[in-house]
Amino acid sequence: MISQPVKTWHLGDRHQSLVLASFDNRLPEAVYWGPALPTGESTETLSAAAKLDVTGGMVDENAAISLCPEASQTFSGQAGLAARSRDGNPLAPAFRLESEAASEHGLTLVFADKTLNLTLVFDLTLTPGTSLLKLQTRLESADVIQVDWLAAPVLPVPAHTGEMIEFSGRWCAEFLTNRLPFAPGARVRDNRTGRTDHAHFPGLIVCNRATTNTQGEAYAFHYGWSGGHRMVAEELADGRRQVQFGHASGSEAAGCHFVTAPLYATYSQDGLNGTAVRFQRHLRDSIIEGARAPRPVHYNCWEAVYFDHKIDELKEIASRAAGLGAERFVLDDGWFGRRDDDTSSLGDWVIDARKYPDGLTPLIDHVKSLGLEFGIWFEPEMVNENSELYRAHPDWVLGPADQIRGRQQLVLNMAREDVRAYLHAQIAAVLKDNDIGYIKWDHNRVLPVVEAAQTEGLYRLLDQLRAEFPQVEIESCSSGGGRIDFGILERTQRVWLSDSNDALERQRIQHDAALFLPASVTGSHVGPRHCHTSGRTLDIRIRAWTAAQRHMGFEMDPRELTGEEAEILQKVTSWWKDNRGWMMRADILRLDSSDPAVIAEQQLAEDGSRFAVFAALTRPSDQILPHPVRLTGLDPAATYRLTLANRDDAPRLSRGTPLLKTQDLQTSGQYLMSHGVTLPWRFPETVWVLEGHRI
Ligand code: DGJ
Repeated sequence: MISQPVKTWHLGDRHQSLVLASFDNRLPEAVYWGPALPTGESTETLSAAAKLDVTGGMVDENAAISLCPEASQTFSGQAGLAARSRDGNPLAPAFRLESEAASEHGLTLVFADKTLNLTLVFDLTLTPGTSLLKLQTRLESADVIQVDWLAAPVLPVPAHTGEMIEFSGRWCAEFLTNRLPFAPGARVRDNRTGRTDHAHFPGLIVCNRATTNTQGEAYAFHYGWSGGHRMVAEELADGRRQVQFGHASGSEAAGCHFVTAPLYATYSQDGLNGTAVRFQRHLRDSIIEGARAPRPVHYNCWEAVYFDHKIDELKEIASRAAGLGAERFVLDDGWFGRRDDDTSSLGDWVIDARKYPDGLTPLIDHVKSLGLEFGIWFEPEMVNENSELYRAHPDWVLGPADQIRGRQQLVLNMAREDVRAYLHAQIAAVLKDNDIGYIKWDHNRVLPVVEAAQTEGLYRLLDQLRAEFPQVEIESCSSGGGRIDFGILERTQRVWLSDSNDALERQRIQHDAALFLPASVTGSHVGPRHCHTSGRTLDIRIRAWTAAQRHMGFEMDPRELTGEEAEILQKVTSWWKDNRGWMMRADILRLDSSDPAVIAEQQLAEDGSRFAVFAALTRPSDQILPHPVRLTGLDPAATYRLTLANRDDAPRLSRGTPLLKTQDLQTSGQYLMSHGVTLPWRFPETVWVLEGHRI
């Protein structure tokens, strides 16, 4: 039956199987990726069975969608590698197997093209427990070459997956999802911004038309890189489909060693939640290092004072924040150089003696005396022309001199050792001289050029600081969520998801971000009553409960709160503190809401013993009565007790007698998942919070 010599490999666990086959020692191709195969399945048979027919109008063999589809194989789609010799001639290698080795949870496969002196290495692992594939490609060349494109290991997705969900967005609207049909040709996203960017979260979910949050098949991908990526989702003329991810094209300088970032991928039969939970858990348990537990309630002073720092006011704000329940105080932009607005001082990381004549110590001492940790803002990769640094080193800037500025600032060339050494010395001095437990690391513009070396330089600096100050947590911010990816999160512990503190917008953003991000890393703050970025006025209840769905924090000026608002916020914060132990380790399951006005999610404890449902009504519903909210992930045979945690919020216009308004509901998982929970009527722009316990 097997006409060609074949070598096969199987990466699998109880959730999924990935079977690779190499015919005639050529690059391996995935001949199967889907639900876990039964033990004893012959991978040789699968490899033979996957061979496609040939008919008129075709070349005589189907070039493989290998882990790096080769132009030399007359591959008609996008190749996995595009490289040129030093004199500019295109290279079309034909790789053959050299060696293979088992790694801890996977394998390393080495291929070579001996004529061109090229070696291609695939590192493939399947993380136990989280069932996430981590896939990386390395290319070594004996001679200096130019690599225009190198894909991380390329995977096919089956023809029955008709749709893809990809991500766009903007400032204050991160993680917008676009659900598109697969169609002949290539859908290419080449992110030229040099950072992960609001508009280009490097993720893709390939699914069926019928896939919802809770059911159906999904193949999900995330490229763990902060420097701009390229994605290709292509349907070939013959109907096969491939997915490629790599660094943004042309971002590599000529050289001999090239390596992609890890591509994380997984398959699930449990809908979008199936893949989301794998990413959430993997990020939380296998990527993030050094996050404080329990997660402290955060306070950030940006929207309270902006650049106008006055020690006495900041002390009062810190005291009030502590009274509300905050456990960390973050001093945002404005403490250094002569930074009175955003036109100056980036690069001069020296405490502004006009604002802080005795340094930061008096403020830090006050904050610490309240029992709070002290955190501070930096934007290390940037420089203003109006700065001591720029005046001394105009040559440290990345990109052309006449480039368009972004927020009046230029970018430092992080590939330069002297730049990194300078930044390291400045940041380390502030950290050594002051009792600081937290950095908010910002990055407020796109880059003038797309160079991988910039991101590599940033990673080096972060790694150095992390090694030296392991007790200092770092938050990744980039005008909100412009740099959120597993690459930056290997070095940071929290993301500032969005500059939008508008709770309604935040509901949508954090709901979609949960396709990849767990609650424990996702910052969510209670903003001012009149939202500074949307102009909307929102009640304290929705602001508080929305923040309580993630890593909770405050960002309003606490002096603006009325007595009633402060009391409500205190209550919700103490609810969050009582629940964070299990909630920050819970799975966020997005619920399928039959009412498009409702965004609902269920946070299910690791052991399934309890959950919390947050159902936000973002606008008036089209129909007069609330649709039941169907839960998920419960044991159908078990009994659960449900309490409406904020039942006192029911307005007077809710005149009926739904049970949860006055009592707890005790019923089966089956009922909760198939009929759903009937909630009382309420005003728009409110969140119902249901607590559930298995009994
Ligand atoms: C952009 C960030 O997203 C804000 O939270 C704030 O830190 C400002 N930068 C400060 O300039």
